[in-house]
Amino acid sequence: KAACASLTPDYMVPVYACQRRTPLQHPNRLFTDALEILSENAEFFESEGRSLAFYKASSVMKALPIRLTSTVDLCGLPCIGEHSQRVIKEILEDGVSSEVEGVLQSERYQAMKVLTSIFGVGVKTADRWYREGIRNFGDILSSGQKLTKEQEAGVKYFKDLSSPVTEEEANSITDTVRKAVASIDTRAKVTITGGFRRGKQRGHDVDLLITHPEEGKEAGLLAQIITILDSQGLLLYYKTKENTYTAPREPPVKPHSTLDRFERCFSVFKLSLPPFRGSQEPVSLSTPLDKTCIATDWKAVRVDLVVSPCSQYAYALLGWTGSQHFERELRRFAGSEKQMALNSHALYDRKQNEFLSASTEEEIFAHLGLPFIPPHERNA
Ligand code: CTP
Ligand code: MN
Ligand code: MN
Ligand code: MN
Repeated sequence: KAACASLTPDYMVPVYACQRRTPLQHPNRLFTDALEILSENAEFFESEGRSLAFYKASSVMKALPIRLTSTVDLCGLPCIGEHSQRVIKEILEDGVSSEVEGVLQSERYQAMKVLTSIFGVGVKTADRWYREGIRNFGDILSSGQKLTKEQEAGVKYFKDLSSPVTEEEANSITDTVRKAVASIDTRAKVTITGGFRRGKQRGHDVDLLITHPEEGKEAGLLAQIITILDSQGLLLYYKTKENTYTAPREPPVKPHSTLDRFERCFSVFKLSLPPFRGSQEPVSLSTPLDKTCIATDWKAVRVDLVVSPCSQYAYALLGWTGSQHFERELRRFAGSEKQMALNSHALYDRKQNEFLSASTEEEIFAHLGLPFIPPHERNA
């Protein structure tokens, strides 16, 4: 602290991630990867506070424009606690952190990493399995675990779902969904959200937000979309949830609730791969995936479909673009700094006792008194 007093940092990093520009690429990956492993490991032990503390430290470093070369550079930076500083210091000195190396070598981390990567398996289930002696994918099958339908799909398509979804694959699936939607109602709109909207070239799934310019006309769309996709043989697995959000007459009770109540479908898509990969006549990935396409190969891909009424669309888009940490920080900022409650449906002003409507993301940032951060800089 004393060493810091005389230093004026070259850059300022605001406390909340939603006040910062966080690009996808940054010069401090060595440190952020390490901190995120510690964050993930804490999450595996269900220590949410510790997990968040490491993640916050990592997130601050992602917003730094220059590579950290000395612990002196940490002066004036928020959210980097003692423990994180120690990890950073060790990496600066030795190139690696012994704590992180220890975690990576641990049986517990390795097992939890594999188990939680299965579609339908969260930390709670993975932890229970771990305590029953399950360590890897094979152990699940041989132990004769009772699996949910979702987990069954996760196990069945494990290999495909473990390989990252490319931007091309995401675009191809988006096209397919767009065609299905257009055949129902040409005015309905499909937007790609999640990591791909933030500029990521790879993701674990494809997140699609569906809306209709006429309020109310979005209702019933999802069922029709699913019918079409299913009749095309494109859904290997799906599970829908009804919309449970009714326009509130009272202020939201749980301002920090992260779950939204939109109508949705969690699915595993059957993505046809071009039959002549590598040949001189490349087949476009946007080739319609109907029966005219002689597919010799396919890949299972996780796809989330979410439906929002147009009055909530801007909030839904903001909420589904992420990153998850950026979203968490937006909600925390709204609550702690502005006495507002934000979720993926609405923004409520507790001082004015009113809901603030918005038709664009820019308007939501303006309501919150925040400078607009474009999707590519929300990789917090
Ligand atoms: N989200 C949500 N409600 C859920 C699931 C996700 O609001 N039930 C939001 C998350 O907060 C996130 C976005 O939807 O901001 C996308 O979630 P996800 O697909 O899990 O993460 P991505 O950022 O897209 O990362 P990846 O590339 O790994 O898919
Ligand atoms: Mn995603
Ligand atoms: Mn892109
Ligand atoms: Mn998703």
